[in-house]
Amino acid sequence: MSSQSMTEPATEQRNNSISQNENGKHISFTKTKSVSLKVKNLTIGAVKSQKQTTRIPILGKFIQKKDGIDIESNDRIKTVLYPMSFNIPANSMTCIVGGSGSGKTTLLNSLAHRHFAKSSLCQSGEISYHVADDDSSYHNLQQIRHAYVIQQDILIPTLTCFETLMFAAELKLTKSTTHESMRRLVDEIILELGLKDCRDTLVGDKHNKGLSGGEKRRLSVALQLISNPSVLFLDEPTTGLDSYNAYLLCLSLQKLAKNLGKTIIMSIHQPRADIFKLFDNVLILSKGRLCYGDSYSKLLSHFESIGYPVPELNANPADFLMETKDGPDESN
Ligand SMILES: Nc1ncnc2c1ncn2[C@@H]1O[C@H](COP(=O)(O)OP(=O)(O)O)[C@@H](O)[C@H]1O
Ligand SMILES: [Mg+2]
Repeated sequence: MSSQSMTEPATEQRNNSISQNENGKHISFTKTKSVSLKVKNLTIGAVKSQKQTTRIPILGKFIQKKDGIDIESNDRIKTVLYPMSFNIPANSMTCIVGGSGSGKTTLLNSLAHRHFAKSSLCQSGEISYHVADDDSSYHNLQQIRHAYVIQQDILIPTLTCFETLMFAAELKLTKSTTHESMRRLVDEIILELGLKDCRDTLVGDKHNKGLSGGEKRRLSVALQLISNPSVLFLDEPTTGLDSYNAYLLCLSLQKLAKNLGKTIIMSIHQPRADIFKLFDNVLILSKGRLCYGDSYSKLLSHFESIGYPVPELNANPADFLMETKDGPDESN
């Protein structure tokens, strides 16, 4: 099991043990703070220089003065994300859609503060996280309980689903948490993510068949729920799954957002129409520009009002909008 998948982000999660009730006996992953995000003029660029030796000092300078850089007009920086502003409400599920290379992962990583050590990227603008319960805003995500599900499943093939989660619980939860509490928490998470039928199935690998692809993905999400995040980021969690398993995974995530008050943000490649409908908010990217960043309910009327009505019958709005948003630029 990779340390990245299991413990990330280690410091923050260890400092924030799972909620305990007053006598400290019962832990539950159901109680979290509601967090919304506000993004203002976020712009990301990549330094063009090819030589690592010249890139690092330039980057150091940029990171220190990141709010002062004009990324768009700087000749030495290629703009990866053009200035964008949007809000993500609490207890909602948001997708970032767009073609390959449109900037989905870059945007997700920026929202998740997965910064750019030794990379050539630089950023300006502002991302703030608002906690509803205590009515305070933070610019540092480390002050908010959060987790990130990477695109690959990195799991130990010789452990069962239950053992994998217990192992993660022992690593992530505070020492004072009893074995019984961990077991109860793990069983809650197993139920929530629909892993009950494969609770005692080995993860397996290519030599020994174990969990299916969909179950492995859900287990990867479950691992990140151990730390009870308020905000959960996922990079293309449905890629590689068949459409039914992709739907089941998104349905589980929607339930987490709605029932447990989590803010879920994911990048997704070509969602099926029934998956697309599960999202509360949609961010559509085209070549680094934000074409739409608002609620799903206003999406179709917005595109209709600017002259791109989605065909009514049998049309997948996601496919239609992906083609539409790239259309005008393709002729350049
Ligand atoms: N560190 C980097 N240096 C230079 N270019 C980058 C870097 N990271 C991303 N890019 C460029 O930004 C664009 C968007 O990348 P990415 O966010 O990975 O797209 P997506 O996830 O939508 O496929 C691509 O053209 C990619 O080449
Ligand atoms: Mg990507």
